Amino acid sequence: MERGGKVSYKQTRVWNVDNWDEEEPSPPEIEEAGLCISRGEAVAFPTETVYGLGADARSDEAVEQIFAAKGRPGDNPLIVHIGERSQWQGLASVIPDMAEKLADAFWPGPLTLIVPKNNAVSEKVTAGLSTVAVRMPEHPVARALINKAGIPVAAPSANQSGRPSPTKAEHVTYDLDGKIAGIVQGGEAGYGLESTVVDCTGEKAVVLRPGGITREQLTSVLGEENVAETAALLQEDAPRAPGMKYRHYAPSAPLVLVEGSINEAAKQARGEGKTVGIMAVDEHRLELQAYADVFISLGSKDELSDIAARLYDNLRLADQSSVDVIFCETFPKKGIGEAVMNRLEKAASAS
Ligand code: TXA
Ligand code: MG
Repeated sequence: MERGGKVSYKQTRVWNVDNWDEEEPSPPEIEEAGLCISRGEAVAFPTETVYGLGADARSDEAVEQIFAAKGRPGDNPLIVHIGERSQWQGLASVIPDMAEKLADAFWPGPLTLIVPKNNAVSEKVTAGLSTVAVRMPEHPVARALINKAGIPVAAPSANQSGRPSPTKAEHVTYDLDGKIAGIVQGGEAGYGLESTVVDCTGEKAVVLRPGGITREQLTSVLGEENVAETAALLQEDAPRAPGMKYRHYAPSAPLVLVEGSINEAAKQARGEGKTVGIMAVDEHRLELQAYADVFISLGSKDELSDIAARLYDNLRLADQSSVDVIFCETFPKKGIGEAVMNRLEKAASAS
């Protein structure tokens, strides 16, 4: 179900707070942007994961602007962002013990917790589900902004639906300029991949989307036996994080993940007259770049968190290169590697 509503052109304001020293009181730019959100408009802002597009989570009309600007399907619910932990009770009908434990350990931070909802937020935020996704971000600009707005802020990633999430303000401008009220510019997002989404409504915690907080970190708090295996989730008929069923992040040329030798795959494609892009780690550049029309370096293989931080920027670069096919190497699904591979697999999936 695609939201067909037309987006009328808006003059998108820009507030640059890149130089704000968080030891100082928050600048007037954040106050203005917060006011904009509390008046019911949609404003993009940096978080420690990716840039978000925020609006008043209690208001149907405000939330509607998010769906319209992004072209987001209405059955894909949004995460509600809070500035203080005390706001959580106001959104949930009950907060399970495991959710409290995870919040104690990882909030503020890149972790989203699914809990049973009450009726405080717009039905459009939860897309008709009986649960609500809540996250307390760590980024000082995000927290100051949410606190200035003084309300729970619904915020998906601030990209055009289907494109990689924005890790720089310029990505937001590229996707949403003229469609939203404003952009708070605050430098590059740190993790570069979205938060880990954990369903806390059942017996065991279920990771619906791997992200900045790793499975290893979750099990260290809850115990191995209290975190469901990913395999159990995959066997279910209906995806429990509705967003995960959609195609995401995909460059316009087909992206092919190659576990073995990329040069063989590249040689074969070139033999068929195709132009080839290769995405690989720095250590493989010398060996591979002769086979590529465009080589995109993902970073050092020993710095997987840097690879994660730059992945979406690199996927956007790949999208802009006009090659016929892109081959990308794979990573071990350990630690942040699980989230990196999840996003690469989504980008590579054809449906
Ligand atoms: O890091 C992040 O999480 C970023 C920043 C801006 O906070 N936000 C973000 O939002 O990635 P979004 O909308 O792009 O992804 C939210 C994911 C989707 O896969 C959605 O389906 C899932 O969370 N989700 C939201 N509410 C849910 C719920 N009640 N039950 C299950 N999944 C839910
Ligand atoms: Mg998103």
